[in-house]
Amino acid sequence: MQAQVISSVNEASSVRFHHKTAIIVDVLRATSTIVTAIASGASCVIPAETVMEARALQREGDLLGGERFCKKIAGFDLGNSPEEYTEQVVGGKRIILTTTNGTRAIHKSMRADHILIASLLNAEACARSAIELRRDIVILCAGSHDEFAIEDGLCAGLVLDRLHDLSSFPIEMDDFGTAMLALYRNRAHQLKDTIQSGLGGKRLIKLGMKRDIEACSFVDIYTDAPRLNGDQLTRA
Ligand code: MLT
Repeated sequence: MQAQVISSVNEASSVRFHHKTAIIVDVLRATSTIVTAIASGASCVIPAETVMEARALQREGDLLGGERFCKKIAGFDLGNSPEEYTEQVVGGKRIILTTTNGTRAIHKSMRADHILIASLLNAEACARSAIELRRDIVILCAGSHDEFAIEDGLCAGLVLDRLHDLSSFPIEMDDFGTAMLALYRNRAHQLKDTIQSGLGGKRLIKLGMKRDIEACSFVDIYTDAPRLNGDQLTRA
């Protein structure tokens, strides 16, 4: 089984996803939020590329969530902090989510045979689901401002680490994947510190959202890998 890693959404051309399972990663914060919403019992998360599209998709009872410039969008019910997506708030609800990079990355990978959502919170579950789907894998790190973000690289490395542990086939990685696996193994005991020292982490700290970094830094606390069915991300 082959596993490639794409460093940012800017590098993602649709041909790279053909016949593959795509694993989308945006640790700060879109995929951590999606994973938390599904673990909290949201019936689905619908990723929308634009604010206008999100509003158009909303039906009665749905919640609108997301951010622009890391802040909640005017008139939306929820921002992009995983901690907002509690069982009490999102249980049984459809969430329409639009974020700057994460939901854009999901839309970029639409040519893939399967799309899974990964974060540090559910990396092992995601690796397990990807193995069951029996396709070559492409991990798309959403990044930020069209550039690589270290927290996404750590998560890609963690998913690769779990793939190596769980797969009965050898995992053949590209060079960037090999580098991300080494990064993760080197920093496995300092994940939160490494994330805080990255540009995305510093930006959230400056905006008073340090708690979000903590909420996004736990490893394998959830056992679901949200998967795209039609336009909805649901439990795999
Ligand atoms: C994104 O999708 O661009 C990010 O999740 C931004 C954020 O941290 O809110």
